Amino acid sequence: MGASHCKPLFSLRAISHVFPNGNKALSNITLDIQEGECLFIAGSNGSGKTLLMRIACGLFEPSSGEAFFRGTPVDKARDLRSSVGMVFQDADSQIVGETVVEDIAFGPKNLRLPKGEVEERTRSALSAMGLTEKRDYPPRRLSGGEKRRLAVAGILAMGCSAIVMDEPFANLDYQGVVQALEIIKRMKTEGKTLVILTHELEKALAYADRLVVLDKGEIRDQGKADEALDRLVPSYGIRDPRTSYTCAADCTWLG
Ligand SMILES: Nc1ncnc2c1ncn2[C@@H]1O[C@H](COP(=O)(O)OP(=O)(O)O)[C@@H](O)[C@H]1O
Ligand SMILES: [Mg+2]
Repeated sequence: MGASHCKPLFSLRAISHVFPNGNKALSNITLDIQEGECLFIAGSNGSGKTLLMRIACGLFEPSSGEAFFRGTPVDKARDLRSSVGMVFQDADSQIVGETVVEDIAFGPKNLRLPKGEVEERTRSALSAMGLTEKRDYPPRRLSGGEKRRLAVAGILAMGCSAIVMDEPFANLDYQGVVQALEIIKRMKTEGKTLVILTHELEKALAYADRLVVLDKGEIRDQGKADEALDRLVPSYGIRDPRTSYTCAADCTWLG
């Protein structure tokens, strides 16, 4: 084991970003994400979740601060691309192939793996994400949930050890949410690092090892999920999910 294995997977140091229009989207964020953990980053729309992880993945340059991947600045971290997969909220923007199978094979082909290895990985990812029957479909004709499973399949085929899922439950029906949860469970079992950006805590908080609460571009809290929830302040715009309903008349999110 080299020393790099002791370093956090992601290290964000005093990250701030101000857009040209003056919008202060992130303020002085310092955060480590450890290899193998399942981290939830919760915050209302616009709190900065997506921007923060785009910066961590080297997809966006902040106005100030530094982002490291296994101790190397993200712009110089050569293994970042092949180690971390990001499932965007807009799954359409990630489609690169004319068919499902081509789309999944794109990543491993780019890694210049032998043909047999590409085929094997693609077949296994198709099956893991329940897309075998759709292998020759044009990806744009898949449902929202299937498109996100396609993105995960591509990441699996690359052999990534970490996955960032941006709003994995957005626009999914009940069955879609269950499938997304099964994916999260499976990734955890396989020891992958998971970073889940969501405001829908009631759907998946059981899988969180740690919860970070983001509000207006600042980290307001972080720690064990129950403890962070106990400290929630209404202005964060996050609903405490530890509410159960006992009858239909209780079923409203209005207090
Ligand atoms: N190009 C841009 N110009 C100005 N503000 C932006 C731009 N892109 C994103 N923002 C702002 O940055 C903030 C954080 O956005 P985002 O990271 O997408 O939030 P979240 O993912 O938590 O919903 C929001 O206030 C958003 O409006
Ligand atoms: Mg977002």
